[in-house]
Amino acid sequence: MIRIDNLVVQFGGARPINELSAVLTAPVAGLIGPNGAGKTTLLNVLSGFVRPIQGTVSLGDQALLPMTPLQRVRAGLRRSFQTEQVVEDLTVAGNIAAIADHVVGPRHRPGAVDEALAFVGLATVADRLGHSLNLYQRRLVELAKCVVGKSKLILLDEPAAGLTEEEGKMLRELVLRIPMEFGAQVLIIDHDVELIRSMCSETMVLDYGELLALGPTHSVLADLNVRRAYLGEF
Ligand SMILES: Nc1ncnc2c1ncn2[C@@H]1O[C@H](COP(=O)(O)OP(=O)(O)O)[C@@H](O)[C@H]1O
Ligand SMILES: [Mg+2]
Repeated sequence: MIRIDNLVVQFGGARPINELSAVLTAPVAGLIGPNGAGKTTLLNVLSGFVRPIQGTVSLGDQALLPMTPLQRVRAGLRRSFQTEQVVEDLTVAGNIAAIADHVVGPRHRPGAVDEALAFVGLATVADRLGHSLNLYQRRLVELAKCVVGKSKLILLDEPAAGLTEEEGKMLRELVLRIPMEFGAQVLIIDHDVELIRSMCSETMVLDYGELLALGPTHSVLADLNVRRAYLGEF
């Protein structure tokens, strides 16, 4: 469970997050909103790359803000980036092992890496270098880095952007398996409302730093304010 309380982020004179409070409990929760709404900034706050000027965020009963980004990774928090972070001169397995190093002991590392590779279906290319991977494979490496070790919360920033419809569908199937197979909660940002509708039982809508709606996805997407502000209707 993610709890956000009275959160404010300020960049100069702008407040990309303004007095935001929310609790997200769904196994796969959605985060949508127009460009510049503060979605990535919220992920940056949760993962420790942006420091808010006010408020608290917690994962279960653990307060996140006092922790460094690495302490948060050790506490089970993982994220993907809008631009994939794959080390080009490391192998696929090496990229995943680099995260595993921080979260599982050396004795358990090979097993954890193999498990993550098998989950995303990259076992056969485990020895290929990062630079030889296509976009979809890069996204799968990012996903493997998210599930390796004992993750509790996985933050995905537009993981399906730029993929073909078929690739997007395969990625979606994988993400949906995460809560059952790894016991982690997923928070996913995507522009594709149909993808959010099909994956997320709960969705939060941000509109220029403020909470426009939060609740069961079907009622959030039917909300008049959401349709007006985000879906461009009326
Ligand atoms: N490091 C930063 N410094 C200053 N402004 C930023 C920074 N990061 C994001 N912003 C601004 O904060 C707002 C929210 O951005 P972002 O969280 O990336 O939106 P989204 O992911 O919803 O498209 C935007 O107006 C953006 O220009
Ligand atoms: Mg963004």
